[in-house]
Order: sequence, then structure tokens, then C-alpha cells
Amino acid sequence: MLIRSMKARLIGLAAMAGLMTSLSTPAVEAAPRPDITKDLFGTLADGTQVWRYTLTSGVLRARIITYGGIVQQLDAPDRHGHQADVVLGFPDLAGYVDKNNPGPYFGALIGRYGNRIAKGTFTLDGKTYHLPINNDPNSLHGGTKGFDTKVWTATPAKTGDGVSLRLDYTSPDGEMGYPGTLKTSVTYSLSARTLRVDYRATTDKPTVVNLTNHSYWNLAGEGTGGIYGDRLQLNASHYTPVDSTLIPTGQIAPVAGTPMDFRRPTPVGARIRDNFQQLAFGQGYDHNWVLDGSGFRLAARVTDPDSGRVLSISTDQPGIQFYSGNFLDGTLYGTSGHQYRQGDGLALETQHFPDSPNQPNFPSTVLRPGQTYQTATTFTFSAH
Ligand code: BGC
Repeated sequence: MLIRSMKARLIGLAAMAGLMTSLSTPAVEAAPRPDITKDLFGTLADGTQVWRYTLTSGVLRARIITYGGIVQQLDAPDRHGHQADVVLGFPDLAGYVDKNNPGPYFGALIGRYGNRIAKGTFTLDGKTYHLPINNDPNSLHGGTKGFDTKVWTATPAKTGDGVSLRLDYTSPDGEMGYPGTLKTSVTYSLSARTLRVDYRATTDKPTVVNLTNHSYWNLAGEGTGGIYGDRLQLNASHYTPVDSTLIPTGQIAPVAGTPMDFRRPTPVGARIRDNFQQLAFGQGYDHNWVLDGSGFRLAARVTDPDSGRVLSISTDQPGIQFYSGNFLDGTLYGTSGHQYRQGDGLALETQHFPDSPNQPNFPSTVLRPGQTYQTATTFTFSAH
């Protein structure tokens, strides 16, 4: 009897100690006041300085550089409040400055056109335009010198519930073959649990535009290994099948009964080596999913069962590119000095469908003078 009641008291004390521990985890207690600071990240060959802005709010810390508007680091807590950098990246500017094109586009802003345009050509209002072919035979992510290689003008600010960094870049008429002067502004806002990205653009001639962010996520922490065990959910009943050069065939195909069905949370690797031609074309997942519903809605959720980190992505865009890091081949070493191999990160790029300028049945990506291109995506972190 006595032993039992002592045991009960011990269990009670242990439970209290547990409670105190959880109350004193950094995630709960030490949320810093929203803040934004900057440091010099590097200098380009032409002498241009590249700044890194560090945004902190609630449990998150995001570091964004003015080169490419790149999210260089993003620290988020696991279920115990331990922080890890959950995006793939490089420790210094040299890592990002293009040696090969196309590179991996870690964390970068992509423009003027996210993903591929077939054979680097499209016709608008009867005029044919030619873009650089940087992913033979197609043009990828805006061409050889896309928005990921531009130095953006940064304006930091405090917001009602956090901090923000506005990045501006004006792309001259004809840059990378695209018509119109495109005035572009992208604002990253960090609040307690969410990184929000707002995109805006205007043009002085009819053009096409499709902006996105190309962060690769590894919710266990970059450089810790593969993401095939992550559970992915995509709010999409259809996807756009591709040909062997990863250009959409124009078909909108149901995911039902295929390895493309992520309507229920499913480990990324569960079917990635199934005998399914689409997966062979991409050497894994590298496709556009057609998001269900319209308006601003949940598009994707990734859960890392080990750390408990959960990333929820919402957007107003019609599609999302899920790319399972297939072309990471061990030649790159990331922020913490570890090698990145195939499947060590996954990208979820909210977007209009690839090759829309050549696909009359896809939602239009045409922007005309007087119109404003405006879209938003949020990345929200939790842990359980
Ligand atoms: C594309 C991939 C490409 C990767 C990095 C993704 O958006 O769909 O095919 O390899 O970006 O360039």
C-alpha cells in the first residue's frame, strides 16, 4: 500500500517535472520579439554587395539574401522545441552564384516564368518570342539569367504581427526574351509561425508571368539525409502528365489509382520507384498537380514523423510543382557542409501550370498593361 502510494507520488512528481520541462522549452518560453537585422553576405565579381536579412518572429528565423531573393536558412522548432534549418542552401555567396545553369535554385525566387516553356518559344498576340534554352530542348525557370540571379532592392519593415522584407526588381523589356518591362515586387513576411510570400508585377507590354519560390524542404534539418520518409499530402485530384522532356502533354489526368495520388498523407518514397512511366521521365516526382478548389486554400502538407515538424502550404495559385530532389547528385555540399544526394530535399512550388503560354486549355499566364499580377503563398510550421 505504502509502496503503491509512494510510487503514485513519484509518478506525480515526474509528471510535474515533465510539465515544467515542457513549459521551459525554448519554443514556448523564449519566443524573441519580432526583429530584422542585416549583415554582408558577400560581394559579386562586379563589386555589388549582397546583404543577408535575418527575420525573427515567434518560433521562426528566416534568412533571406538580396541575390535571387533566396531563403538561405529557415529555422523551425521540432516537437521538443529544438531548432533546425529546414531548407537546403549554401553557407556563402559563392555557392549560389551560377557555375552551371540550370543549377538547383535552392530557396530562390523564380521568374519570369517558373518551370518549363517548350522549346523556349511562345506566341502572344500573333508575335513569336524566343527564350534561352537552358534545359535542352526547353527553357527552364526564366532562362540562363532568371530572377534567381538578380540582386533585388530590399526594404525591411515591422508589421502588425512580425517583420517583412520587400524585394524589388525591374526586369527590362526583352530580358531573357520576354516582352515588356516587368516591375516586380516580392514581400516575405514572417509572423509567429508563418512565412508568407506576396508577389506583385506590372508590365508595359503584354507578356507572360509565373513567379514562385524554389525552397527545398527537409523537415529533419538540411544535410541530415533523405525525405522519402516524410508524409506528403497534396490537395489535388488531378495532375498534368508530361512527355520525356518534362513538358505537359496538355492532358489533365486523375491521380486516382496512380502513384501520383497524395490526397491522403503518404510517405514520399512509398511508390517513387513504381513502374509508372511518369516517374521514369522525372527520375521520381517532378510534376505539376492541379489544386482542388479555388481562392486561397491549403495546397500541401508535409510531416516529418521523427522530428514532428509539419509544414502546411496555402496558396491562391492553380497548381503546385512537387519535385523530390531527383537531380541532386552528391556534387553539392550545403549550409552545414554535408553532401546533398538524390532525395535529400523536396520542393513544393506554388505556380501556374508549366508551359501555359503554349497550352490553350491551361489557365492563362498573360499579363497586360494596366493589370496587376498578384498572388500569395504561406508556409506555416507546427510540430506534434
Ligand atoms: C523542376 C526540375 C528541376 C528543378 C531544379 C524544378 O522546379 O521541375 O525539373 O530539376 O526545378 O532546377
